[in-house]
Amino acid sequence: KSLANLTDLAGKKVVIRVDFNVPQDKDGTITNDRRIRGALPTIQYVLEKGGSAILISHLGRPTGDAEADKPFRMDRVATRLGELLGKPVQKSDEVVGPISAEKVAALKPGEVLLLENVRFHPDEQNKKHDGTFAKTLASYGDVYVNDAFGTCHRKDVSMLALPEAMKGKPRVVGFLVAKELDILANLLGTPKRPMVGLLGGGKVSDKIGFIKAMLARVDQVLVGGAMTYTFLKAQGIEIGSSRCEADKLDLARELLELGKGKIVLPVDHLIADKVAADATTEVSDGQVPAGKFGLDIGPKTIQLYSDIIAKAGTVVWNGPMGKFEDEPFAKGTKSIGEAMAANQNAVTVVGGGETAEAVEQFGLDSQMTHVSTGGGAFLEYVEGTPFAALDQIDDQ
Ligand code: 3PG
Repeated sequence: KSLANLTDLAGKKVVIRVDFNVPQDKDGTITNDRRIRGALPTIQYVLEKGGSAILISHLGRPTGDAEADKPFRMDRVATRLGELLGKPVQKSDEVVGPISAEKVAALKPGEVLLLENVRFHPDEQNKKHDGTFAKTLASYGDVYVNDAFGTCHRKDVSMLALPEAMKGKPRVVGFLVAKELDILANLLGTPKRPMVGLLGGGKVSDKIGFIKAMLARVDQVLVGGAMTYTFLKAQGIEIGSSRCEADKLDLARELLELGKGKIVLPVDHLIADKVAADATTEVSDGQVPAGKFGLDIGPKTIQLYSDIIAKAGTVVWNGPMGKFEDEPFAKGTKSIGEAMAANQNAVTVVGGGETAEAVEQFGLDSQMTHVSTGGGAFLEYVEGTPFAALDQIDDQ
């Protein structure tokens, strides 16, 4: 059931679980607010219908050490949200307790309250919680909305036990979750062929399920990013000092065998003698010489992959092609994004925090069919893992 089904929200306090887990630089400045913008339609709808919004989110992975966890406080998120909404956003400096309870009680229609980082509460990720935390959060609202697509693969209290504790009150998905589920189901359910998967990023071992799911669905998988070197090493190819999961070579061989005829690996590499933004780069064919680091796909690979993308009916991309955050190694990721953007006949789907950020950084996001707000959730969705959090949402 979607929030669109609820029209009578006048005077209602609506608890909305959002995913404001946004990237920040070392000073705590938000470097990308896509996830905050993604939740705006839901928040605005609640306010327009005369409700008030109580927002719950996590930010990062706090450790429990108050000093070390300072960058994970929600203050900057509240400020940014206020700017985007064009109205002040109240913030509680605790998750639950007397301050939050008082702010919730005083909240008027049209007002927004953001609770402190929900992972500051010891029970949010405690599998053995006694239900008290969920009940307290539940007491804050008349309606529960899950608009945290990026967190739908988690079983945290605010995703699962909270809606469970609100049984009897309306529990719906927000517009962002509804849109993501709708688009991904349509795009990936009966894809336009040929379907091409683009796979990059650091570790093969992080994405085993995703790689297997891709191999089962797509016609070709084009590999880039650091995981390239684990695959190359597994075939006995020289990779120099490139990043490699030395203990995952058997796994890489198994995946290569499984993906025979589908997996395409880079044919050349952009290499450097150090991993730094001021490194001097050169192109190396086939392998990476001793002492050098492979940091991006090379020009022949860019051409090869772009030609395949140009003929594709569907392209699903997860994981950058190189260390794109440093200018010298950004070309592969940028060119692949451009190739996707150029094929306007294809359905182009981008998932994963870093990949979505790259596409935005290069100004290509509006030319893609869909840029998902999910990282791990996107991977698990493509793998076909059911989201337990959605079982707690009303069917109708
Ligand atoms: C994400 O960024 O993928 C989500 O916000 C979930 O964060 P987590 O991996 O720390 O649970």
